[in-house]
Order: sequence, then C-alpha cells, then structure tokens
Amino acid sequence: MKRMYTGKTKDVYELENGDYLLKFKDDVTGENGVFDPGANTVGLVMEGAGRAGLRLTRFFFEKLNAANIPTHYIDADIEKATMTVAPASVFGKGLEVICRYRAVGSFLRRYGLYAQEGQPLDAFVEVTLKDDARQDPPISKSALEMLHILSAEEYADLEKLTKQISQVVKDELSKKGIELYDIKLEFGRLKKDGQVVLIDEISGGNMRAYKDGVYIEPLELEKLMLAGE
Ligand SMILES: Nc1ncnc2c1ncn2[C@@H]1O[C@H](COP(=O)(O)OP(=O)(O)OP(=O)(O)O)[C@@H](O)[C@H]1O
Ligand SMILES: [Mg+2]
Repeated sequence: MKRMYTGKTKDVYELENGDYLLKFKDDVTGENGVFDPGANTVGLVMEGAGRAGLRLTRFFFEKLNAANIPTHYIDADIEKATMTVAPASVFGKGLEVICRYRAVGSFLRRYGLYAQEGQPLDAFVEVTLKDDARQDPPISKSALEMLHILSAEEYADLEKLTKQISQVVKDELSKKGIELYDIKLEFGRLKKDGQVVLIDEISGGNMRAYKDGVYIEPLELEKLMLAGE
C-alpha cells in the first residue's frame, strides 16, 4: 500500500488494484481547541472522531448510491477507520463546493452588510479554491472557466449534483428533527472515465446543523444521526 497524501483529517493510500484507501484520523479542524468546519488547521484531537466521521460518511454515501447519484464510494471498514474509493483527480488543486440554506459562517462574514444571521438561502451554491495560504478564496463560475480549472459543462454538473446531494443530506437530517444550515462537498473526475462524482467524505465536520436553533457539534450530530441505525 502506497501513501499518496497526508491530509489534515485523513491519509490517502493507493491499493494494489489502483483503488484508493482513505484512513480517517481523530484530528479535527478548528482553532485553539475549538471546532470550526471552515478552518484550515487541525485544532484538536477527539478520541473516536475518525470512526464517527466514517460511520456518518458511509450512511450518506449509501443513501446517495441508492439514489443513483454518482460518488467515489466502494466500501467502508469502520473498525479500521478506512474507506475504499475509486480514484479521482480533482479540479485544479482542489475545490470545495458549498450549499447554503441559511446565512452563517463565511457567507455572513463576507456579506454581513446585506445578510442577517440565519436568514434563509435557497440552496445557494458557491465554490471556493482549496488554497490554505489564501484562506480558500471564493471563485466565480466565469473565473473557474477562464482559469481552465473546469469547463462550463463540468460546472453545470457540479452545481446540479451539489443541490441533489445537499437535499438528500438535508432530508436525512430533518427526519431526526435537525436542520441543515450549510454543507461543504468535494468533487473530482473519475480516473477511469472522467465522470464528475462526489469524492472525499460527508461527516459532521462538513456541515453546520442545528436543532431547535442550537448548533450541534460534529460528534453529537453523528450520534443523533446514527442512533438506531
Ligand atoms: N476519490 C478520491 N480520489 C482522489 N483524491 C481524493 C478522493 N477522495 C478524497 N480525496 C482527497 O483526499 C484528501 C483527504 O484528506 P483530507 O480531507 O485530510 O484533506 P485536507 O488536507 O484536510 O484538506 P482539506 O482540509 O482542504 O479537506 C483530500 O485532499 C481529498 O481531496
Ligand atoms: Mg478534507
């Protein structure tokens, strides 16, 4: 098994058959010991966070597969905290696609002159560049095309998939009385045929979820979502 990449919350290995293995670690993004899904640093280590994140990821990827939404998911081993996935290449050096249902986080920090905290947003999709040194700047569709990061067709796929996937997650949360405020996804082109698919993970660390107006921490969200599953 060859290590391809050491990430902040996961390590990536290449298996002998060419598939990738994602190893979920107990590192959580945040600053000074406080969790923040938007942070670019590992802020704290939480015992069991890797497995909990993987269990929720498996839960959502299996729902997406059942809904015929294309993803990289192959299978998961919770004991080992690993997930086998189809290898993909990312757009440029990687993008994050955010879908927003309520104004919080970086949206509010940027547009606070016009937006109220918690104001409803209609599955608003925006893309940011994965560029830690530049604090993951937002990028427009035309800039993505102009800089040859992706094509217009790929952008359309990305936006459509983002809305579909986010809706699946939102519906699953709402079954447990939880409201999804925003979610951050990653996409790539499958190495085998170039198809645009969802990659990476969908765990508590990728979203902001609230119950009765109160923010739910990732580990708590994972517990609430998987109770009885
Ligand atoms: N199917 C896939 N094919 C190729 N790369 C993948 C696939 N799924 C996930 N990845 C990549 O594996 C890495 C997982 O590591 P991790 O999530 O720790 O990244 P990271 O360094 O924390 O970056 P970030 O915080 O911006 O997500 C990411 O770079 C992600 O883009
Ligand atoms: Mg990541």
